[in-house]
Amino acid sequence: MTLKTAEFPTLNIISHPLVAHKLTLLRAKETPQQAFKALLTEISVFITYEATRHLPLEPVEIETPVMRTLGSQLSEKQPMILPILRAGLGMVDGVATLLPSAKVGHIGLYRDEETRKPKQYYFKVPSDAAERRCFICDPMLATGGSAIQAVHMLKERGLKNIIFLCVLAAPEGVANFTAAHPDVPIFTASLDERLNEHAYIIPGLGDAGDRLFGTL
Ligand code: PRP
Ligand code: URA
Repeated sequence: MTLKTAEFPTLNIISHPLVAHKLTLLRAKETPQQAFKALLTEISVFITYEATRHLPLEPVEIETPVMRTLGSQLSEKQPMILPILRAGLGMVDGVATLLPSAKVGHIGLYRDEETRKPKQYYFKVPSDAAERRCFICDPMLATGGSAIQAVHMLKERGLKNIIFLCVLAAPEGVANFTAAHPDVPIFTASLDERLNEHAYIIPGLGDAGDRLFGTL
């Protein structure tokens, strides 16, 4: 199930007791790197479950061991998973658990800690990108700068049907993102309270990339 807010019509907040439980472990500062990685993968499975709820289906005839019957199959190629480097990489296995034929592109962005603006350093998508939906992944939507830039990079290459998957979102980032890209739905496991003076999400989980890769 997802929750909606009156303030952000394109925001979908995953509501599930296991997500709440796992998210609490993910946030806790004593959670070690290996567990952090596993939890991020598990939470990403739940986010993907909700984010794929409206994928189109077509009928398909199959033969069971007993009789012919009509089933359903996805009518499009599976989406393209687009992690924003680095921390988005931690969501790829979870998304691919439910979408095993999805292809993976990479968007290299880092947030300049002084200007807090995203810097681009890499971009690579599969050759059939135009035929696939785009699932951008990044655990953190803080100011929204990185996510806004990532969507912009896809749109300027003519890519459509974009959604953004994250684990924590700050209200400031959601407001900025929806103002820039009102056509792009956001799926998150939590809408947190706010940003602090360093543009970190509060209560947050700290630096997602550092916790995922042990570069603290
Ligand atoms: C983090 C995070 C997002 C970005 C969010 O990445 O993974 O990409 O910050 O902040 P924003 O919404 O204010 O743009 P970071 O820039 O720290 O790079 P890293 O993943 O390589 O550590
Ligand atoms: N990037 C992170 O990794 N964490 C935050 O809280 C904000 C940006």
